[in-house]
Amino acid sequence: MKFKAVIFDLDGVICFTDEYHYLAWKQVADELGAYFDRDINNRLRGVSRMDSLDIILENYHGEPLSAERKQDIAERKNGLYREYLKKMSTADLSDEVRDTLIRLRELGLKLAIGSSSKNTKLILERIGLSGFFDAVSDGNNISRSKPDPEVFLKAADMLGEAPADCLVVEDAVSGAQAGHAGGMQVACLGDASEKKAGDYNLSAFSQLLDII
Ligand code: BG6
Ligand code: MG
Repeated sequence: MKFKAVIFDLDGVICFTDEYHYLAWKQVADELGAYFDRDINNRLRGVSRMDSLDIILENYHGEPLSAERKQDIAERKNGLYREYLKKMSTADLSDEVRDTLIRLRELGLKLAIGSSSKNTKLILERIGLSGFFDAVSDGNNISRSKPDPEVFLKAADMLGEAPADCLVVEDAVSGAQAGHAGGMQVACLGDASEKKAGDYNLSAFSQLLDII
């Protein structure tokens, strides 16, 4: 086995909350009169809530916004997003992802989450994975967002494994950069795989079993 542990991004890897992020940001951007589309949304993958807002505001040309107002806008987005999350259930965890996770565990690998999201706990609960992972490092225990490696280094530390023994799984280019900056190998799916940002660029989650 090449690795001792696998650290998974959550949104866009374990489950597909990215459409909900898009819909919530789209509503907020429309309210602000700021142009927003799916290409811009791709730039928000892996990026923290406040950094995402700054990207959205690149297309905002209205009155200057105070720090307090920006905080309110981010909270508004999060409220809309959490309403969408209520629709999630164990049906949002695919058989492929669940079976692959179980197989990886059977093979003796430690499994962790490394997500920028402050909603990680809620999402894991909704999809029935609460308590499944050996460690959860998320937006609540970091001060620097991806592409900074902090979230993955903390996950490796919680697992008690060296970064070089960990494989990061990501759908975001910023997340792949974060894994590399932390001295980890990276397997990419989705957008980051299309952009060939990983050491392994996969087309299906189950292909992880071929590379570990
Ligand atoms: C990441 C998403 O997982 O979490 C980003 O890819 C999102 O799009 C970030 O901005 C922060 O999420 P939250 O749930 O803390 O607003
Ligand atoms: Mg992601």
